[in-house]
Amino acid sequence: MNIAIFFSGNGSNMLNIKNAVDEKKIEANIKVYICNNRNAKGIKKLKESRDNLIIIDHHNFSSINNWEKEVEKHLKNLEISLICLAGFMKILSKKFVKRWERKIINIHPSLLPAFKGLNAQKQALNYGVKYSGCTIHYVNEELDSGEIIDQSIVGISKNDTVSSLTKKILIEEHKIYINALRNIVKRN
Ligand code: GRF
Repeated sequence: MNIAIFFSGNGSNMLNIKNAVDEKKIEANIKVYICNNRNAKGIKKLKESRDNLIIIDHHNFSSINNWEKEVEKHLKNLEISLICLAGFMKILSKKFVKRWERKIINIHPSLLPAFKGLNAQKQALNYGVKYSGCTIHYVNEELDSGEIIDQSIVGISKNDTVSSLTKKILIEEHKIYINALRNIVKRN
């Protein structure tokens, strides 16, 4: 299965998938890493795999539709059949998502449908929930609303901060992303 990984920032989920593929825990080919932010910290983490990286900075495009057109040229040439959003911080257009129906998965740092959108960890702390976690889901036309593939729970203690909660959740994100991806690849 030919996959593309989209990322925007730190790239820990991106690197986690890359490592799992390198270690043959997932039988997929990462044909391309697409980054929409030329300053993303994750770029350096790719090291020798930067050959497969394409930086398509969204600042150079007048709209998300134009950005997507450029991206899709690469996806088609490379015969991509699954897009893994791994800390990808742009909202894809409804048209793009429709064209790639059930072919895009995303990781979100809350137990959806709670705390959609940005700063999910802060939202959870502000609300005062005692448990949060992460969700891997298919991407549909509504933000953070596609079919849930898997979730993992973390407890929140009195002393937790956005930073400590983010770290706890990331550990779980990395586990469920690999499991979900492995299962999807096996089925295809
Ligand atoms: C993760 O918390 C992910 O759930 C969210 O953005 C963050 C990205 O982290 N969508 P990283 O760039 O993968 O380290």
